[in-house]
Amino acid sequence: EFVLKDQLLTAEGMQKKLPQRPRFSHKGTYGHALIIAGSKEMTGAPVLSAAAGLRTGCGLLTLAIPEPALPIVAGKINEPVFWEWPAESGHFACGSYAFLKQRVSSFDVVAIGPGLGKWTGGNQWLSEIIRMVDVPLILDADALNLLSEDLSILRAKKSPVILTPHPGEMGRLCGCKTADVEKDRVGYAREFAQKYQVYVVLKGTYTLIATPDGRIFVNPTGSAALAKGGSGDVLTGMLAGMLAQTEDIESGIQLAVFIHGLAGEICGAKSMYATLAGDIIDAIGPALQKLS
Ligand code: APR
Ligand code: MG
Repeated sequence: EFVLKDQLLTAEGMQKKLPQRPRFSHKGTYGHALIIAGSKEMTGAPVLSAAAGLRTGCGLLTLAIPEPALPIVAGKINEPVFWEWPAESGHFACGSYAFLKQRVSSFDVVAIGPGLGKWTGGNQWLSEIIRMVDVPLILDADALNLLSEDLSILRAKKSPVILTPHPGEMGRLCGCKTADVEKDRVGYAREFAQKYQVYVVLKGTYTLIATPDGRIFVNPTGSAALAKGGSGDVLTGMLAGMLAQTEDIESGIQLAVFIHGLAGEICGAKSMYATLAGDIIDAIGPALQKLS
């Protein structure tokens, strides 16, 4: 039933899908990503995601940050457009959606999650945003944990949704143990993707991509250099950066996952121990170069 040869991502296959970069183009050609991330306690994750998105090639990137964290985040990165979101105890506050409602359709992709933390009202906040977003929506990290509190909010989605759990987050989403997920990665990813009609990127060695219609793709790239805090935040940014550039969601997900792994291999060749998430971002350019 599980035919690996049809589903294993290859360099040749990915090369063909890489978005072109024609000479006659401008930033508008490559899309505008919105990343909603961070909290007073977590100011690194948004920086990693935003830098990774821009390195992956999107034309413009807006970073929405809760108010007290914004000066800190903006002090670390120059390239995004910043959007200050009202805060409640250092987290995104509910009830300030007018601006998003007005502008949401002007983005090509929205990613939510890195560094959000957990807070009372977080689930309500996320549910309002899911209801509003009408472009591809990536949910990662704490957005997945907020989602686990009430999966029914997924039913309100208006556009394709991509979830990027590690096995622990997948366990929380499925209401089972991490060890159960590890025993049947394909089964859990496929069942969830079909039940909720979403893409599931189940991370770890040989990251799996499950599609809403139940197909599975297996990513062979990656290295143990990626086994360090922040490398998932980099992947989220790369997914946003890639999906901003292409209408083909399935290919965009495959490309981001494959190139993230390649960047991990490039870092691993220098050191399996010393790699930092920022080093993975620096390796995105060389990884893209290797592929093109
Ligand atoms: N081989 C290949 N890939 C690997 C390996 C490995 N040995 N180890 C890790 N990776 C890759 C995973 O496939 C994934 O893409 O590194 C990334 C790790 O992602 P996360 O587990 O989400 O790590 P992290 O960036 O630290 O997450 C940040 O979000 O998920 C929450 O609890 C997490 O608060 C933390 C935050
Ligand atoms: Mg993570």
